[in-house]
Amino acid sequence: MFLSFFRKNKKQPLPWYKTSVVYQIYPSSFQDSNGDGVGDIRGIINRLPYLQDGTENSLGIGAVWLCPIYTSPMKDFGYDIADFYNIDSRFGTLKDFDELVLGLHKRNIKIIMDLVINHTSSKHPWFKESRSSKTNWKRDWYIWRDPKPDGSPPNNWVSVFGGPAWTIDPETNQYYLHQFLPDQPDLNWRNEYVIYEMQNILQFWLERGVDGFRVDAFGHLLEDGLFRDDVVIKDQKNNIDDYASYMHNYSTNRPELTRVIDVLTSTAKQKPDTFIVFETYLDLHQLVNMYNLHESKQYAPFNFNFISMPWNAVEYRKFVDDFDKLLQNHTPTYVFGNHDRPRLISRLDEKRARVCAMLLLTLRGMPFIYYGEEIGMEDVTIEKKDIRDGFALTSLLPGVSRDPARTPMQWNTEKNAGFSTYTPWLPVASNYEEMNIEVEEKNPQSMLSLYKSLIHYRNNSRILQEGSYQSIETGSPDIFGYIRTLRGEKKRILVLLNFKDGEIKISIPHLGKIIFSTTGDVARNTIFSKETTMCPYEGIVVEI
Ligand code: NOJ
Repeated sequence: MFLSFFRKNKKQPLPWYKTSVVYQIYPSSFQDSNGDGVGDIRGIINRLPYLQDGTENSLGIGAVWLCPIYTSPMKDFGYDIADFYNIDSRFGTLKDFDELVLGLHKRNIKIIMDLVINHTSSKHPWFKESRSSKTNWKRDWYIWRDPKPDGSPPNNWVSVFGGPAWTIDPETNQYYLHQFLPDQPDLNWRNEYVIYEMQNILQFWLERGVDGFRVDAFGHLLEDGLFRDDVVIKDQKNNIDDYASYMHNYSTNRPELTRVIDVLTSTAKQKPDTFIVFETYLDLHQLVNMYNLHESKQYAPFNFNFISMPWNAVEYRKFVDDFDKLLQNHTPTYVFGNHDRPRLISRLDEKRARVCAMLLLTLRGMPFIYYGEEIGMEDVTIEKKDIRDGFALTSLLPGVSRDPARTPMQWNTEKNAGFSTYTPWLPVASNYEEMNIEVEEKNPQSMLSLYKSLIHYRNNSRILQEGSYQSIETGSPDIFGYIRTLRGEKKRILVLLNFKDGEIKISIPHLGKIIFSTTGDVARNTIFSKETTMCPYEGIVVEI
């Protein structure tokens, strides 16, 4: 069974990034193997059978995106790198990493590494050199500017984490730029040596077997060469330190970023089928524009629009219709959650989170699942004394902590949810005894069972992986419906999603059988007739 599964999957004519469901692992919180309360690489290795064991018992994902595991002082939990060529000791060693890659590949799982290249840690030797004097040859590797005559920062740019994006270095009396924490100085992407180093870094990890990269903070990599002030949004002028008060038209998303895509995709090309995902928060047209910036088809920007979109079937339909049509041969990406945003189920509720799962896993493109989403993990309330997130610790704004969405994975009913034998670095959810993998595996109606069924169905369905998408008129503004079709396949797949907390009768000119319902009440293979009543917040997949 195990072997035949892999043999079957080896013959994929489509590249992995067109077929795989991607699972995001936040390493500190996935599985601790050495009893220090922090997740690590060996912990992930031990849990690989959960991700993919070649049978439908496992989750069935095809790729893993690992949040940063490089050497870091952890001011921003790995997004502040002090050595791009090594693994932080809290996570393990390069040897462990090699074993992880081997283990993943054996299971036909690709690995996407986080690439944090907008900034380094202030503890990185490059920055130490750079800040040592104005004439040091690495001075220009970062962005240094003189103060204004009154001693204030060179312009009005603010950091994503609040407050000025500039910090003065008393040694040389110049400001350095940091679009995030002061401990994360921005690299200068106009410096050719920096670009050369970045190419080396990519190459190093490609040689170690990495299949793709997730480029952190892409829109921040380059700023306006003239350092012009960002435009202030009028109504919000009252808080000059707040990121939301500016348009960031000079500090982010500059047209010069095309060069960066070029550098990264051409370096990655050395290994066939390498895929790059860029972290950018863009609206539909900006996204499409980004796909068209470069001829390579082996990259995509993250599409985070589902995270912020109002819960409305008409808006969802409009977005997917336009996105799918405008992208043509490109790979769309879909995301409902990540380590920077409140958890899906806490933004919505369980019923709607199930509808989201169905939508995510039945659209064309690359679906991303944030660890724990598949069991319905919720945001955990973190007491002030337990806050770890550097953003929350430095920000003056309330409620910005990202810790609630980063708590330990809930594996079973054992102490600390089976995550660690020691007190975990962030508290475990109090409801872990009911909401955990072991319990949900036994319940065919659980969130986990829904995710597994949808993922395996998708893995075995060329129609879902590469078929075309066409939305349909459902007769109700609250029901988003679409049909997936593949040339040469008689069968088509109809998906109907009820966005309303109420029953809706619909009449659709198709006959078929219902394969799944998000309510779990409709058994497989139930007949779908033209007149159907959809339950409140129900999603169904129908073969027609
Ligand atoms: C985006 C990452 O997702 C986030 O966690 C991090 O704090 C910032 N970039 C800075 O690297």
